[in-house]
Amino acid sequence: MSDDSSSNRIRIFDTTLRDGEQAPGCSMTLGEKLRVAKALSELNVDIIEAGFPAASPGDFESVKAIADRNFGPIICGLARCNAADIEKVHAAVKGAEKHRIHVFVATSAIHREHKLKMAKEEIIKSAVGAIKMARELCDDVEFSPEDASRTELSYLAEVVSAAIEAGATTVNVPDTVGYTVPAEFDRLFRYLREHVQRIDEITLSVHCHNDLGMAVANSLAAVGAGARQIECTINGIGERAGNCSLEEVVMAVKTRAEFFGLATDIDTTRLYPTSRLVSSITGMHPPRNKAIVGENAFAHEAGIHQHGMLQHASTYEIMKPEDVGLSNSNLVLGKHSGRHAFRERVNELGFDLDDFETNRAFQEFKKLADKKKDVYDGDIESIIMNTESASAGPWTLKSLEVQTLTDEPATATVNLLGDDGVELSQSARGDGPIAAAFQALEQATGVAMVLKNFELHSASIGEDAQGEVTVTVEIDGQSFRGQGVSVDIVEAGSRACLEVMNRTLRRRARGEGSTDNSQSAHASV
Ligand code: KIV
Ligand code: ZN
Repeated sequence: MSDDSSSNRIRIFDTTLRDGEQAPGCSMTLGEKLRVAKALSELNVDIIEAGFPAASPGDFESVKAIADRNFGPIICGLARCNAADIEKVHAAVKGAEKHRIHVFVATSAIHREHKLKMAKEEIIKSAVGAIKMARELCDDVEFSPEDASRTELSYLAEVVSAAIEAGATTVNVPDTVGYTVPAEFDRLFRYLREHVQRIDEITLSVHCHNDLGMAVANSLAAVGAGARQIECTINGIGERAGNCSLEEVVMAVKTRAEFFGLATDIDTTRLYPTSRLVSSITGMHPPRNKAIVGENAFAHEAGIHQHGMLQHASTYEIMKPEDVGLSNSNLVLGKHSGRHAFRERVNELGFDLDDFETNRAFQEFKKLADKKKDVYDGDIESIIMNTESASAGPWTLKSLEVQTLTDEPATATVNLLGDDGVELSQSARGDGPIAAAFQALEQATGVAMVLKNFELHSASIGEDAQGEVTVTVEIDGQSFRGQGVSVDIVEAGSRACLEVMNRTLRRRARGEGSTDNSQSAHASV
């Protein structure tokens, strides 16, 4: 495989499921990862980095499950430069018709001395050995010199030359700690293109972190200097301040096509639904003013702007909302909407429900439409999230009663229905309504937990909007995340808490410890 800098096509390498998922609070269950992978293939990304198979058995299983579905894009897995990691990646990705092994080793002096305690020559030897081994298993091998942006230029060129000689088909240049700036990164890429022989025979890639808020700008600088693959994540999620945001970098290339003279194959109308899917799964919601997918990204408040927009949209709008998949039909459904309209909207939002799931979700939609006049996209996503987690048992929240009085402890009574038809009622007191409801749930289910974080997000707009709650709790010393939605925020919190408790009970019933696909269990990268 070869690609050169004279091509005007940029490959989009999505690492939401690997670098993104590594971010605190962003871990996903297997089912959630499969939904994201499917959405990424509908977005038409070129490569999906599905995970780091050696990090945990759960990571291995999810990379394998994604690869075996053969969604379309190249499926890639990350490996350190050792045989066990490389074999694991191969075993996990080989089910996909198109697959890639991505090997990495740190090259900067800081990492060599303090982390790896390896000399320059040893690092080159280890990279070369790993790439050769990966090439025996797979034709498509990517190599990353971690912390490349803080590596001595001449040594970096030496490492990259050796990687190409060993058979790497893509060489990725990471700004691992988000340290570089556009002009410097431009120089680095030009230096490599000048000093590394055969560099035009491989795809040169860029991978930026956002610690100084320049991940997108640095990625674009690299592209201007010859990179033809951009590594990025949906909503820019990732370690610390995150990675280069896919939606921003793709829309920059598209909106300024006359400047860059480049194009991606991304179906940009899928950007907004994919962003919503990832934020509702991870509970990490982009700020309102986030470029492209923030709630205000296409809102015009100032009178002078509104006036201009009415005369001609191009006065203040450089992209059309439809181009990123923000449809004007956001405010669509109400209590008279039928099953067909509901199903159509569900599909447009990127969900793929079978008939049974559609019926369940439609019933919930009807109940909600009785409570609130307008049902927005956010409400539909929340209904689907809720019915998916509620369908997993063993306990379902039948009802919740809460009493609060100023200066008095609150009391909550939960009524739970078990899979076996048993009903259970439990009351408890707490400092506030949430504490009381959580206490009652702990006593009813027998799962003790410590609440670490409680986040509330409005699923749509208006006073009757549903509250989407994400809780992070500790059970047996491990951290778990759960989500719940309701027009009542105490109920939403209780549903979120019960979702985690149900997962714990299912795991215990299977005789498993606290390992859960939805908790962070990553080896350090
Ligand atoms: O940031 C980084 O250096 C990485 C590499 C493993 C590509 O994520
Ligand atoms: Zn990274």
